[in-house]
Amino acid sequence: MKSEIINVSFNNKLSDLSYPIFVGTDLLSNCTIILNEFIQNRKIILIHDNVFSLKKGKNKNFFAFVNSIKKFTTSVNLIGISGGDKTKHINQLNLILEKSLSFEIDRDSIIIAFGGGVIGDIAGFAASILLRGINYIQIPTTLLSQVDSSVGGKTGINSSRGKNLIGSFHQPLAVIADINMLKSLPKREFVAGLVEVIKYGLIKDSNFFDYIDTHYKEILDYEEEKLKKIICKSCKIKSEIIKNDEKESGQRALLNLGHTFGHAIESFGKYNGKIIHGEAVSIGICLAFKLSKKMNFCSQDEVEKVVSLFKKLTLPTSLEDIKSISITTLKMLEKFKFDKKNKNNQLTFILNKKIGESFIKKNMDVNILTNFLNDEI
Ligand SMILES: NC(=O)c1ccc[n+]([C@@H]2O[C@H](COP(=O)([O-])OP(=O)(O)OC[C@H]3O[C@@H](n4cnc5c(N)ncnc54)[C@H](O)[C@@H]3O)[C@@H](O)[C@H]2O)c1
Ligand SMILES: [Zn+2]
Repeated sequence: MKSEIINVSFNNKLSDLSYPIFVGTDLLSNCTIILNEFIQNRKIILIHDNVFSLKKGKNKNFFAFVNSIKKFTTSVNLIGISGGDKTKHINQLNLILEKSLSFEIDRDSIIIAFGGGVIGDIAGFAASILLRGINYIQIPTTLLSQVDSSVGGKTGINSSRGKNLIGSFHQPLAVIADINMLKSLPKREFVAGLVEVIKYGLIKDSNFFDYIDTHYKEILDYEEEKLKKIICKSCKIKSEIIKNDEKESGQRALLNLGHTFGHAIESFGKYNGKIIHGEAVSIGICLAFKLSKKMNFCSQDEVEKVVSLFKKLTLPTSLEDIKSISITTLKMLEKFKFDKKNKNNQLTFILNKKIGESFIKKNMDVNILTNFLNDEI
């Protein structure tokens, strides 16, 4: 299959932050052209998910990639860490920083983040603060990270007060999204990643939503052409949205559709695997559509179309579906206070006029929200 390159660029007059995203199959076992451009005898710190190197899951693409880099530099230093959101912790970050420094890195050294969104976020953050910032390359290995977290340069870790509250904007040199990596991904993780794909259709492109709705079975069967199509389309929509808003002072917030509710729900699950990011966002998006309907922004028909697709994918779509997690209206409202979209203590939500048209709703009325949550919980 031919690989495709999507260029991410920003309308930033001060510096050129643009970079390519390579999407295709067999990219990691065959990436000499890409590596030749970026590695060139530099010191490499390869921060990877342990899942690829442990005896049980030894991943041939990972080892092929490590061998390929060795052709371009004599200094390849590996740091293996676990996936899962518990890893995005200040203690883990400290270990990465100290270990990287022990390799005597310099300003030309490059971090390669090889893993899902968790590895990408923490390794990217480490790259942004080591020696006041070194370059990094993202090799996203989950669907979520290929379509979302590796694009746009948001990096960071969690705080006990909420997700991603400590971090920076740091754009990578390049992203290599190899579809082959998705074959070993647990189905649950794959489906959770699809939520972010669907999110792009819901925000900006109803035809894309319809495409997924029509072809969801082939996508679930890992049909490579369809996977490539939805990954490329997602990256294009995301890069279009962030182009004029690198640091989220405006339209970039649209990408947060379903995430105000989703992040709160995720935190009630205590990041222990009971509910994962995409599942929480699935409920979050359904709630955002229901709230949009309650406030007369969109029709019941649209709500039902969205809920129906998530149900077909066996995703949770309401708080009823996750009864084992304790959630109250008060606790939810408390969590909203830490949402990064808020300004001057006013809550901001992303709502929809219809499928394919999200908008930013500032100054959200807390009474409406309270009544809405009381009905939902
Ligand atoms: N920076 C951003 O813009 C952004 C955007 C969206 C989400 N995120 C963050 O991304 C994180 C979620 O990302 P994720 O879902 O990729 O999580 P993850 O990195 O924890 O990966 C999910 C699970 O899959 C395993 N895994 C990864 N790749 C695999 C593969 N190819 N085969 C088998 N197993 C594999 C991991 O070990 C882990 O258990 C969250 O922390 C979220 O906040 C960041
Ligand atoms: Zn997300």
